[in-house]
Amino acid sequence: MCGIVAYLGTREATPILIEGLKRLEYRGYDSAGIAVIANGTLEVARSIGRVANLEAALSDLPDTNATLGLAHTRWATHGGVTEMNAHPHQDDRHGIAVVHNGIIENYASLKKYLQEKGHTFQSETDTEVIAMLISELYAPDEGIDLEAAVQGALREVNGAYAIAVICQSEPDTLVCARKGSPLIVGVGRGEYIVASDPSAIVAHTTQAYALDDYNVVRLSRDNIRTSTLENVEVPPKVMQLEMELDQIELGAFEHYMLKEIHEQPARIRTTMRGRIDMKEGRIVLGGLAAFHKELVRAHRLILAAQGTALHAAMIGEYLFEDLARIPTECEYASEFRYRNPIIDEGTVIVAISQSGETADTLAALTEAKERGALSLGVINVVGSTIARETDAGVYLRVGPEIGVASTKAFTGQVTVLTMMAIYLARRRHMSAERCMTLLKELEAIPDKMASLVAQDSTVRGVVEKHVDRDNWLFLGRGYNYPTALEGALKLKEISYIHAEGMPAAEMKHGPIALIDDGMPVVVIATQGSQYDKVMINIEEVRARGGHVIAVATEGDPNIEGHADDVLFVPPCPECLSPMLTVIPLQLMAYHAALIRGHDVDKPRNLAKSVTVE
Ligand code: G6P
Repeated sequence: MCGIVAYLGTREATPILIEGLKRLEYRGYDSAGIAVIANGTLEVARSIGRVANLEAALSDLPDTNATLGLAHTRWATHGGVTEMNAHPHQDDRHGIAVVHNGIIENYASLKKYLQEKGHTFQSETDTEVIAMLISELYAPDEGIDLEAAVQGALREVNGAYAIAVICQSEPDTLVCARKGSPLIVGVGRGEYIVASDPSAIVAHTTQAYALDDYNVVRLSRDNIRTSTLENVEVPPKVMQLEMELDQIELGAFEHYMLKEIHEQPARIRTTMRGRIDMKEGRIVLGGLAAFHKELVRAHRLILAAQGTALHAAMIGEYLFEDLARIPTECEYASEFRYRNPIIDEGTVIVAISQSGETADTLAALTEAKERGALSLGVINVVGSTIARETDAGVYLRVGPEIGVASTKAFTGQVTVLTMMAIYLARRRHMSAERCMTLLKELEAIPDKMASLVAQDSTVRGVVEKHVDRDNWLFLGRGYNYPTALEGALKLKEISYIHAEGMPAAEMKHGPIALIDDGMPVVVIATQGSQYDKVMINIEEVRARGGHVIAVATEGDPNIEGHADDVLFVPPCPECLSPMLTVIPLQLMAYHAALIRGHDVDKPRNLAKSVTVE
């Protein structure tokens, strides 16, 4: 949510900043802006919409050869989508420009104070108060340079921020800071590229410094200095960025979402690699080893997440209870701390998040930790905030996910949760035999996924028949109830078709009133304990004129007589089935969006990583 990139070095800053913004655009695309210091003057360009619009607006900027600058792509929180509200924001005295990701909670009182001091504001944003506050404190003649002014300003600020700041009277200095929002300092040869995530850095360098909360870093042409807000110097934390450039390139695919759907078989193999020990018939999760005893003795799990990760968590709830027999609750992370949760000894919280930066998930984690819970992370982005805040965890290893609608992260999350459930089950009560059978089936999942992504054109054919319908239902039972929720979410997110997912049995308690002639109803009707009941639900839909699209098990002899369209998935144990049944639903949403002419990778109003509560 909001992407920041800043550059100080010897090369021309503008193309590096624009390229960086394009890499970060998935974090928000309401508006974009850039500021550089050229020949001692601050030059700023901003535009609403995509980075491409900003590029066009740049023709207004003089040809600068500037080697210092910063840029921003915005997901609006405070203030509408206007050019005035686009970052960078400037002060009204010293030629200071600021880009910001996060929310300043006390901005209203700070703004009032600054207005009383004579500052004139241009925007409705919280960010502008940071620029003005730095400006108010900036007094180089009294020894308060940009770094000191930033430290002073941030001491007054409540909330979350990652910021980059430049000032036209300090053309060789870039000051950055973070608290609660991500920021990484890439260190190249004679240059620094600071960004919200590695995707904007790895084209230039893989050496980086990680910043802790309340760290301020001052980059100058020959020095780097990291300090606290109280100006106590802290040693920089060196890190190696592991992302490869080709992981974030589109390659032969038209969209990142399609690329990521197709990557699933290979990525899920990587998720499992080295973690399934077929010889011993057990799961090996090195990330949990230090807390082995506490986990085996845990008597309650809380799974907290948002969005797609929440749907993975809901599948996790079934897995942990069914396989490991541990009482498990699944929570909207955003609601968790507002209901005074009971955390007793033996409670373990599992935060599930692709980005590892989702503010709601982080807040739930913090709450549970404060109340004494052991905390685990199921995270994709290595070194992200949640990954660092948890006591232990298991990474997804699915590679960078760029498409805003999550796909491979979902199957990665379900795979990790399945492995965790089997890990605990075997150590608690599951027989070696049952465990071995499950592990074999788990290992076979990636090949089965590969056969599903190859069904792309079949799914498109089904979607084409219904894509003009504005209301869809998704039904499932048991393990595939969360899959139904995920199918509906995918369709909503990128095709803007209204879709509701629900337990198949719940339909008759209200939503059945929506069913009219030809309404598309996607029913997950794979073989398993709930099959007969789901078939009854299918008949209830058809009796009211609904058009049933069934996701069923290959070889099912009956289903074609009951459904209007059928998408087949290979057979597998019920507890593993969501990893397969979700794939046709992902493809369904992709094609619906494409046919309706929407931007699949950047759906309106959404952001990939939501770093505000
Ligand atoms: C946003 C994204 C969703 C994602 C959710 C949780 O809403 O648009 O696709 O599922 O955040 O993100 P996380 O990074 O915590 O998995």
